[in-house]
Amino acid sequence: MNSTSTAPAAMSAWHLLPQGASSAAARTDTLFLAMVLLCGGMALLVGGLLLFLCIRYREGSRADRSSPSNDSHLLEIAWTLAPLVVFVGVFWWAANEWWTGRTVPADAMVVQVVGKQWMWHLQHANGRREINALHVPLGQPVTLTMASQDAIHSFYVPAFRLKQDVVPGRFTRFSFTATRLGEFHIFCAEFCGSEHSGMVGTLTVMPPAEFARWLEAGPHEPGLVQQGFALFREAGCSGCHGAGSTVQAPSLSGLYGRTVRLADGRTMIADDDYLRDSIVLPRKNLVAGYAPVMPSYAGRLDESQLQALIAWMRVGAPSLPDAEDLR
Ligand code: CUA
Repeated sequence: MNSTSTAPAAMSAWHLLPQGASSAAARTDTLFLAMVLLCGGMALLVGGLLLFLCIRYREGSRADRSSPSNDSHLLEIAWTLAPLVVFVGVFWWAANEWWTGRTVPADAMVVQVVGKQWMWHLQHANGRREINALHVPLGQPVTLTMASQDAIHSFYVPAFRLKQDVVPGRFTRFSFTATRLGEFHIFCAEFCGSEHSGMVGTLTVMPPAEFARWLEAGPHEPGLVQQGFALFREAGCSGCHGAGSTVQAPSLSGLYGRTVRLADGRTMIADDDYLRDSIVLPRKNLVAGYAPVMPSYAGRLDESQLQALIAWMRVGAPSLPDAEDLR
């Protein structure tokens, strides 16, 4: 699969699956192999028994038919419970894997991904942008926070066993740690229009020191947090949520991660998804004690801008020097 051959010669033998290059890959492959063996074994057992019994009890055979057992509750319970326990175990295993990929490690490097017809637009926390390319350091947890500007896309890196739908109107996430240096294919795995097949890119895994140099070497754009603060003022949020505002609106300072009480009595944690909904669907989770006066920003802020605003709130929504000064 891999166009650049970075694997040692001894490792480039025949492979059932593309060689894994992330922490998720080894776990996914083990699960997949276990399921193949388990389901294959089950199929062989059922098929084998079927064949054996067909031959043994064929018409005219001299098999013993003197005392047929018609009701063995013990047998029925055993063949019902044993597969149930095994397959619920597999479900638990797979669900656990799924959660591992969707949990954001505390020390993760977060990269924003926006899918749009027909390109991948990525941005690192310091503002460095990439198009159809992603650079990550070896051995460090990375979390992709993904959103779509239009259709449903799917961010797919076969060597990483990473495949996550990128859906309009919500964030999706995937966490991984790269375990092998090299370049790997990025595909879009969800048909998203005429240029779908061209929505490809390259994921490059670099040694950490080299990555740090690469990250700093880009054109100096304001970081995501600075962009978010600039938007807070430019998009008009500060008119109501700012310190000196006369409109009664919840303060955004220190809001991220807190528990919010809503007008209908529910409580929610102010995380990425809550904040996103509050910007584009302000009536959905109305905060207790506030009138439903906020206009929706759906269509007025694009996905990159939403991600920047939330990145700014994630660090506590601080007032920052003018983003222009940081260029
Ligand atoms: Cu984007 Cu297919």
